[in-house]
Amino acid sequence: MAGPSIVVKDLTKTFGAFTAVDHISFDVAKGEIFGFLGPNGAGKSTTIRMLCGILRPTSGEGAVGGFSVSTHSEDIKKIIGYMSQKFTLYSDLTVGENIDFHGGIRRLPPALKAERKRWVLKMAGLEGRESALTRELSGGWKQRLALGCAILHRPEVLFLDEPTASVDPVSRRDFWDLIYELSGQGTTTFITSHYMDEVERCHRIAIIYAGAIIALGSPRELKVRFAGTESASLEQVFVAAIRQARTA
Ligand SMILES: Nc1ncnc2c1ncn2[C@@H]1O[C@H](COP(=O)(O)OP(=O)(O)OP(=O)(O)O)[C@@H](O)[C@H]1O
Ligand SMILES: [Mg+2]
Repeated sequence: MAGPSIVVKDLTKTFGAFTAVDHISFDVAKGEIFGFLGPNGAGKSTTIRMLCGILRPTSGEGAVGGFSVSTHSEDIKKIIGYMSQKFTLYSDLTVGENIDFHGGIRRLPPALKAERKRWVLKMAGLEGRESALTRELSGGWKQRLALGCAILHRPEVLFLDEPTASVDPVSRRDFWDLIYELSGQGTTTFITSHYMDEVERCHRIAIIYAGAIIALGSPRELKVRFAGTESASLEQVFVAAIRQARTA
C-alpha cells in the first residue's frame, strides 16, 4: 500500500523571536480531504507555504509525495497544485490566457494542454467566459479560475488556502463536489476554511492555535471529544478546543 501523501513531524517556523508554527506533527493519507482550521494568525498559511516548498522550515520535517520540503522542494512543486490565500493570477490577461499561461509553466504538451483547458473551463463553470478579462470577474469567479489553474496539471496533492472566501453558497457546493471528485480519483486535498459547513465535509480536521495543533480527528471524533455528543456543531468544537488551549 502507498504511504501517506503528507508527513509532518515537529515542523516549526520562527520569524525572529516569534514562533508562527510550533512543532506540529500529522500525516495525511492519499485521497484524504484534510481540513486545517484555526483563528486568524494561527499559522495555517505559514504551514501551507512550508509544505508547498515555498518557505523553508526553521526545524522539523515535512514530506509531500515522499519528497522532503527541506531538500526536494523543486520536486514537490511539480506534483502539487496550490491556491494561495491571495489572488495570484494576472488581472490583465483573459480567463483563457491565464489558463494557457499555467499550462505553459507546467510544460503540458500542446494536445494535452488543450484537453485540460477544456476540462478546467467546464469544471469551473467558466465556459463562454474564456475571453473575459480576469480583473472584470467577480470575486467568486476569480476563485473558480484560480482553482482551475491549480488543478490544470492534475496534481497529486492540492493545497487550497481559503479557496472559497467570497464564493456564494451554491458555487461553494460546486467547489466541494469537485474536491470530492478529485479525492475519489486519488487526489489528496489540504484545505483551510473559516466556513464550518465546509470543514464538516473533510475526512479529518486539525485545529491549529497559536502555531500548535490542539485537536486532530474526524469531525465526529472531535464533536464527541470536545462537546460530548455527535450532534454538536463544529463551531462548538472549535470554541471549546480554543478555550481549553487558552486555559491550559
Ligand atoms: N514573513 C513573515 N514575517 C513575520 N511574521 C510573519 C510572516 N508570515 C507570517 N507571519 C506571522 O505568523 C503568524 C501566522 O500567520 P499565517 O499567515 O500563517 O496565519 P493564518 O492562520 O493563515 O491566518 P489567516 O486566517 O488570517 O489567514 C501571524 O502572526 C503572522 O503575522
Ligand atoms: Mg492564512
